[in-house]
Amino acid sequence: MSPSKSEKMDRFAGPARLMIVSDLDHTMVDHHDPENLSLLRFNALWESNYRHDSLLVFSTGRSPTLYKELWKEKPLLTPDITIMSVGTEITYGERMVSDSGWEKFLDEKWNRDIVVEESSKFPQLSLQSETEQRPHKVSFYVQKEKAEVLMKSLKEILTNRGLDVKIIYSGGIDLDILPQGGGKGQALAYLLKKFKEDGKLPLNTLACGDSGNDAELFSIPEVHGVMVNNAQEELLKWHAENAKDNPKIIHASGKCASGIIEAIGHFGLGPNISPRDVENLSTCKLDNFNPGHELVLFYLLYERWHREEVEQSATTIEIMKKITSHNGVLIHPSGVERPLHECIDAFSACYGDKKGRQFRVWLDRVSSTQIHPDAWLVKFDKWEKSDEGRRCCLTTVVLKTKADTPEGLMLVHVHQTWMDGFAAKKNWFF
Ligand code: GLC
Ligand code: MG
Repeated sequence: MSPSKSEKMDRFAGPARLMIVSDLDHTMVDHHDPENLSLLRFNALWESNYRHDSLLVFSTGRSPTLYKELWKEKPLLTPDITIMSVGTEITYGERMVSDSGWEKFLDEKWNRDIVVEESSKFPQLSLQSETEQRPHKVSFYVQKEKAEVLMKSLKEILTNRGLDVKIIYSGGIDLDILPQGGGKGQALAYLLKKFKEDGKLPLNTLACGDSGNDAELFSIPEVHGVMVNNAQEELLKWHAENAKDNPKIIHASGKCASGIIEAIGHFGLGPNISPRDVENLSTCKLDNFNPGHELVLFYLLYERWHREEVEQSATTIEIMKKITSHNGVLIHPSGVERPLHECIDAFSACYGDKKGRQFRVWLDRVSSTQIHPDAWLVKFDKWEKSDEGRRCCLTTVVLKTKADTPEGLMLVHVHQTWMDGFAAKKNWFF
């Protein structure tokens, strides 16, 4: 079952400080918030405080096709590990390399054809779209009132045919049939086991969910769990019957990603104040210098300046000049080189130009390398969403730590490349 070398699970030499394993629909993603504010709050917190030493795992019921659709629609970060199709498909890294060992393991006592044959005899079941039918998952819709009885008889029939299956009901509508060894909880247990074997068990793990297929996540020992405020009836029922007295599981008062941030604070798993919640960004300081943190703040100020959500003050521009080297250049995507200070002047003139319009900026995949005792190379995807659409800019920054500047740093070089739409994810979309 062990993955090949290319199926690398993490980016670190040691254990992750925190591993977040989160469902997407109605947990990470709030489909009722077109502004995606709670997700953007989470993104800023993650990239500024956790990306460098922690692991983000998305665990979704969606197939790879629908997962990628969601990624195009919503400002999702790039996870380290993606668990899809209700814990039946695990992939690693940005390139989404499959864990073929996991898929082989799921073949045990599984025969997809028999599942399809037997379930087709139930007229109450209507098949979900073709994309959601996967090698180890057969999915239907069924009305709430009919679900329980139907699940029981289907399970019995399939057992009699020699299969060992798991039937899961979620969101008051979806019914998934999987191999018994599959599911979100089993996939998480498998990952934890592998980390443990490598001596890299994350120091803390937080599971986050809202519906029936997430219940399993909360049954894994050692894991903290948060049911977001908007959790579905079937998950709350499962909790009341199975885990009511477990202090490691909470029902948050925050909806979706806000509930996740709340749980980080509740369990004391690390910093839980998103830079987006800080009005005066210059008060948002860390004990140790972290370039990712500084860049998240920088681009948040950039967003607020365009949106006219900070005061238009000469001091802001002065500070910006103080933290950019007067010899420094920005290499624009067109290949044109411009002095950094000239770019700050251009920025100064853009105050409020996005006021009352759609304009959000978020960073993804921030990675920093210390290249000298006082210099860092930082690389990240800078995303912008505006009325014109969404675009990504692959950015590399060289910065120096400098005690005598307002933010303790100086940008010396910026190099940007606009990616054409989603070309940053070329292995997905092209
Ligand atoms: C996602 C999947 C669907 C599944 C549901 C619940 O919506 O697309 O196939 O039934 O999650 O697990
Ligand atoms: Mg969900």
